[in-house]
Amino acid sequence: MMNEDIERVLYSHDDLVQACHKVGKQISQDYEGKTPILIGLLNGCIPFFAELIKHIEIPMQTEFMQVKSYFGGTESSGKVKIISNINFPIEGRDVIVCDDILDTGRTLVQIKNMLLAQGANSVKICCMLNKVDAHKDLNLTIDYVALEVENQFVVGFGLDYNELYRNLPYVGILKEEIYKK
Ligand code: IMP
Ligand code: MG
Repeated sequence: MMNEDIERVLYSHDDLVQACHKVGKQISQDYEGKTPILIGLLNGCIPFFAELIKHIEIPMQTEFMQVKSYFGGTESSGKVKIISNINFPIEGRDVIVCDDILDTGRTLVQIKNMLLAQGANSVKICCMLNKVDAHKDLNLTIDYVALEVENQFVVGFGLDYNELYRNLPYVGILKEEIYKK
């Protein structure tokens, strides 16, 4: 069973639902009178996105993008490849980009710039988890964060290791022996 591969649960399903409630309430207040478009980044956003939107009480729309990040060697300038794009005009619209975790932040910096170049009125960033020390060098404002993690590799609630563990209903740390297999 997948549970046996987990060293420690960091955030239970209840913790995650509560955190989504807090973020959803904040978004509802901040965007009162507007109709934001929430763009989820596939595949990692799915459980977080699905939970979050249940706690947003204002009119909103959903769109999805699938992206892959390609980094050349050890260079810090990453390139984002869009596998599947939104099929919707965002000119003049208020956009909130939702992702599973903010690590280096390179993916989200590029997507934010891309959406602003397409004429979005505003682009905010919303992440389920924020790796607190991982992206200090980047000039990126994270507008909404559900929960914080240390600089460690976590799985579950959308987060994968080799495309597995996304379906765990909590966020946890993988046992070392799994990486070393
Ligand atoms: P970055 O912020 O551009 O470095 O990329 C963030 C992406 O890296 C996330 O969307 C995840 O796909 C992946 N990622 C980063 N840290 C973790 C982790 O701890 N567990 C699983 N995936 C991670
Ligand atoms: Mg991902």
